[in-house]
Amino acid sequence: MSLLLAIESSCDETAAAVIDRNLNVRSSIVASQVALHERYGGVVPEIASRAHVENILPVIDEALREANATLADLAAVAVMTEPGLVGSLLIGLTAAKTLAWTLELPLIAVNHIEAHIYACRMVGGASVFPAVGLVVSGGHSNLYNCASTTELELVGSTIDDAAGEAFDKVAQILGLPYPGGPFVQECAESGDAAAIKFPRTFLRDERLAFSFSGLKTAVLYAVQGNPGSRKPVPKMTEQRRHDIAAGFQEAVVDVLVGKCEQALERFGRDSLCVGGGVAANARLRARLQEMSDRRGSRLVIAPMQLCTDNAAMAAMAWEHLDAGRIAALDLDVRPGLVRLNPNRR
Ligand code: KG4
Ligand code: ZN
Repeated sequence: MSLLLAIESSCDETAAAVIDRNLNVRSSIVASQVALHERYGGVVPEIASRAHVENILPVIDEALREANATLADLAAVAVMTEPGLVGSLLIGLTAAKTLAWTLELPLIAVNHIEAHIYACRMVGGASVFPAVGLVVSGGHSNLYNCASTTELELVGSTIDDAAGEAFDKVAQILGLPYPGGPFVQECAESGDAAAIKFPRTFLRDERLAFSFSGLKTAVLYAVQGNPGSRKPVPKMTEQRRHDIAAGFQEAVVDVLVGKCEQALERFGRDSLCVGGGVAANARLRARLQEMSDRRGSRLVIAPMQLCTDNAAMAAMAWEHLDAGRIAALDLDVRPGLVRLNPNRR
């Protein structure tokens, strides 16, 4: 057997997967730490690293067991080395290096954000490229011009909060649980998105950039009042909470869909690959589909288990292996960088 073992520990999920050469996911295990971080309303890096240390070996074991594989069946070990929390990334990298060294297997570094786009390739086939890629998660809102599977050029990102981060912070302002995305979506369902006007930063701007912090502040003012204004704050009723959630969600979706369309136009692409946790948002999915249908372009969003953080999407490592992009054992993590091909020297 020729199998790839992939490891992911960039943020608050410890994950391992076994994938074969044909991109069949033999197993994909994800140990979530949501329960550990819930009461802080966000991921606490030190708690995350410690949980990765505890989870990494059981998760790898489970991935091998579920795939009916042993270490002897492995052809390579892949690990996400960028971007992410430095302490968290190091746990996955150390595990991957140890396995690669002791088993004498090639070690392959994968960029986590690029892997989110590769998840669309796994379900949509090679014909999804060339494409525009959008990755929207708790930590990132990035737009890519993708010439091929591994030629991904970062063409736009957020100048402040990520889209998912905005969902999480707005949930906190509205008194909803963590992580906020699904709860804001649910709350928005019975709201009127037009009841309160929220900003759509950069929507009419040429730049392929995002900014969600002004929108987040606008939500805060809608809830608590604007400290610079004498206008009384409307009473917070259940309906107003729903309206704010709906208005916020619509503003985020307007900007994300608008920027995707701008990128499709600019780069002359007619395929759009979307990944990351926020891609789970039903309103975003519906509006992206609407836009794609109107333009006659193709939309690929990976199914839930491949769309949110997982190790299976590191199957991109097969492409790196075939191209000879094998990492040396002095491979390091790149917490803050989003770059092209981590294996390229
Ligand atoms: O990709 P992901 O699982 O983890 C990383 O951040 O890398 O994304 C998690 C993010 C969280 O911010 C969460 O609130 C958001 O995705 N999210 C959603 C929805 N489901 C998850 N945001 C909006 N609507 C949703 N239905
Ligand atoms: Zn992610």
